[in-house]
Amino acid sequence: MLKHIVPSQLRLGMYIHALDGSWLSHGFWKSSFKLKTTADLQRLQASGIAGLWIDLARGLDVQPAAAPAQPIATPAAPPAPVDAPSLWQEQIEQARQQCKQAQSAVTQMFHEARMGHAIEPEQAEALAEQIQQSVERHPAALLSVVRLKNADTYTYMHSVAVSALMVALARQLGLSTHQVKRAALAGLLHDMGKVYTNPDILNKPGALTDEEFAHMKLHPGQGHALLQQSITDAEVLDACLHHHEHLDGKGYPHGLRGAEIHLMARMTAICDVYDAITSNRPYKSGWSPAIALQRMAQWCGTHLDTHIFSAFVKTLGVYPVGSLLRLQSGRLALVFALSENKLLTPQVVCFYDTYEARRIDPPVLLDLSATPNEHILLREDPENWNFSDLDDLWQDAITATTPTCIPTSALAV
Ligand SMILES: [Fe+2]
Repeated sequence: MLKHIVPSQLRLGMYIHALDGSWLSHGFWKSSFKLKTTADLQRLQASGIAGLWIDLARGLDVQPAAAPAQPIATPAAPPAPVDAPSLWQEQIEQARQQCKQAQSAVTQMFHEARMGHAIEPEQAEALAEQIQQSVERHPAALLSVVRLKNADTYTYMHSVAVSALMVALARQLGLSTHQVKRAALAGLLHDMGKVYTNPDILNKPGALTDEEFAHMKLHPGQGHALLQQSITDAEVLDACLHHHEHLDGKGYPHGLRGAEIHLMARMTAICDVYDAITSNRPYKSGWSPAIALQRMAQWCGTHLDTHIFSAFVKTLGVYPVGSLLRLQSGRLALVFALSENKLLTPQVVCFYDTYEARRIDPPVLLDLSATPNEHILLREDPENWNFSDLDDLWQDAITATTPTCIPTSALAV
């Protein structure tokens, strides 16, 4: 049986069924759990929630025949979030909807191309513009959501992600509105040639043979030929053809060097590589964003353009969404969200205590810009830890925002 109580009635041994308000407003990862520690009890009472539901079948009731118990500790003011939680949730939800629409449109575009039809330039431009507007409205939200890919949607979501990253990068580089638009389209269309790549090779779990790699390397030329039928923008076509070229001449398909590789192709190369190496594939786990940036920095000058890469890092922040960090308190945390102008103090999800070598359950959401006693100590490489659920943890953080709905029939009177 469920009963609704106020936080001052809480006591150890109760089973919390649900908390009033959204997940982000109270910072408790799970709303259902047994209240076992004084620290959790105090934190709940200090969280600012108006009320909560307890399950009498699984834990203690309130003190019998008593007025609401006194709080154990004087409630502290809850830390102020960087953005109002409802605003962040709204932005995430909008970004999710836009991503869903964009993914469906890209899927259709690839399907048409497989059927031998030319790309409709107006449709592609409209889609690129939609992605552009979404990034310009809420960059952190969209760049967070495009990380969500699965095996079936990878190729399509990769196109949306590269397009979104291109918009953010073009703006960081101070390019004109027309160039930003062009960048969005180049990112969206850069891999169209993969409609001709054998899916078994495209998704092969493991290294490609020389023959398979030669087949894969055809896609920039094939995409260029396809786009030439209807796309007239020379820079977009060039980005599609040359996004796998390296500054040292070791790329493909033409082995171009240095200045022979134009701006839009250099930008596409960086966004393409970043999204590819941070994405989980059936045959390999993606690198953490922070680790990916570290490794990409080593490829600057030979493969990637150093100046454009610096702008790219500024776009994503020092601690990009999805990065694994160690905090001063010894807790490991995953970057969950960034706010503009507060890139050094992201919102994180704390989920592991390194001093006690145990998971923090439920994980705790922390806004580092509003938590003066907690700081980032260092970046951690997830490869040094055996956490298999980092993506789930992060994904739950941006999806677990709907309060639990309690059926009226279950209420205690
Ligand atoms: Fe490619």
